[in-house]
Amino acid sequence: MEKNVKKYLILTYGCQMNVHESEKLAGILETNGYECCTNAIDADIVVFNTCAIRENAEEKIFGNIGELKNIKIAKPDMIIAIGGCMSQQKNYADEILKKYPYVDIVFGTHNLADFENLLKKRKESGKKVSEITEDETIALRDRLTIARTSGVNAWVNIMYGCNNFCTYCIVPYVRGREVSRPEEDILREVKQLLSEGYKQITLLGQNVNSYKGKDKDGNEISFAKLLFDLDNFDEYKYRIRFMTSHPRDLSSETIDVIAKSKHICHGIHLPVQSGSNSVLKVMNRHYDIERYNSLVKEIRDKIPDSELTTDIIVGFPGETEDDFEQTLEVMRYAEYMQIFGFIYSKRKGTPAEKMTNQVDTKVKKERLSRLLELKNEIINRRTAEMKGKEYEVLVESYDENKNLLYGSLDSGKTISFAGPKTCVGEFIMVRVKEVRKSVIYGEIVNLDETISFAEKNFKHPIEVSILPKDQNSMKILRQNKQKKKEEDNKKSQK
Ligand code: SAH
Ligand code: SF4
Ligand code: F3S
Repeated sequence: MEKNVKKYLILTYGCQMNVHESEKLAGILETNGYECCTNAIDADIVVFNTCAIRENAEEKIFGNIGELKNIKIAKPDMIIAIGGCMSQQKNYADEILKKYPYVDIVFGTHNLADFENLLKKRKESGKKVSEITEDETIALRDRLTIARTSGVNAWVNIMYGCNNFCTYCIVPYVRGREVSRPEEDILREVKQLLSEGYKQITLLGQNVNSYKGKDKDGNEISFAKLLFDLDNFDEYKYRIRFMTSHPRDLSSETIDVIAKSKHICHGIHLPVQSGSNSVLKVMNRHYDIERYNSLVKEIRDKIPDSELTTDIIVGFPGETEDDFEQTLEVMRYAEYMQIFGFIYSKRKGTPAEKMTNQVDTKVKKERLSRLLELKNEIINRRTAEMKGKEYEVLVESYDENKNLLYGSLDSGKTISFAGPKTCVGEFIMVRVKEVRKSVIYGEIVNLDETISFAEKNFKHPIEVSILPKDQNSMKILRQNKQKKKEEDNKKSQK
């Protein structure tokens, strides 16, 4: 008789921090006997891991919770849980339960490690569960089993929370104050991941440059020292990335470590937010554009093949046409490889929400479209310059239908090319063959050039809104490992 295994679906919104926390939620559910599925109709439990960074993120989530109503009517035993940054906001839990009476559990960012108990409580009591606390024991979250979902990529928290209180931002209110993990824990986790075959480790923190962990002797260490120590697992071939850097705290020491490292990527995400000193000041960013530009220069001088990416907000309260022009100016100066441009969105409880000089919506939209125009111009030109050059690529996945491999460059850019699927998980040399509007197509160096690329409407697989397991590339990765093991065995028997 077929066993009736319970199924879970996790819907993830927002940043990589959330993607990784969904892996922790998945770990809790799998430890409790649930299996992953990708459709709410099949699910016994649906968990929303929410984001509150901008109003449109919240609107999308509310819409999706609304869509579950009919499924819940048809399947009353299905549990719906809402967690993450949106739930953590003041009064949101009550509002969610009132507006969506079919929701079973609401939990905050600090209650993640306790999710197993909340689920039990719901099942045993039959009553709705709402748990939003202000602090937690971070160590609890660090001890969770993680159901990793991103193929050759693994996320590692180095710190939690944020102390910066940029005046537009909700994160410090929903994620609490900065707490750094001990260095030993991070080193152990990374080493373990490398031994399991992960190739690209991304260190996570809202402001990684202010990492202040303790080393094994109890001494406080900087982010630069952590990076230095993480660069030393020479028995493995791997990449280390990190996000996000705050321009105030990015030290020369850190830039030096990256410049001399073997495994740390030269693609650096350095959010500028605005090019105008008066706007930066009201944003509470604690740097001016001169400091930012000198960092850009220092990075370029010390790491000639570095690639910068950034975040920019347009239409922050009081932003004038002249301020905006200065933002366009910094974009031209830094020549970013990627720019995430956002329209300023009011967040409840933040200082900027109460500012009286809000910018008109029409003006904000018009500025964003001008920003996007310049962004495309810069990025298209920069990527076009890559044509004909050869790069080391980490092959991340294989699409059976398109018969294409997808990989990432050191800069973080994605490249697609034809090749055998056994390449997944390997670092290989790829020549950029064609660039169509910043989408890069390559060919494996030293492979017969009979491969054609017919992908006209190729879409970048960046957005992660659902968290199905990346079973395809994981399967191939395991097959590759198995093959290597067998080959090694054969060799040792000879
Ligand atoms: N900790 C990171 C980023 C966190 S949020 C950092 O400091 O860089 C990611 C981006 O969202 C920010 O860099 C910012 O550009 C944008 N953002 C944050 N709050 C916003 C708001 N209220 N409106 C529009 N964009 C916002
Ligand atoms: Fe938000 Fe600023 Fe903290 Fe980034 S550094 S999370 S933008 S408050
Ligand atoms: Fe969103 Fe929370 Fe990340 S607000 S961007 S999910 S820290």
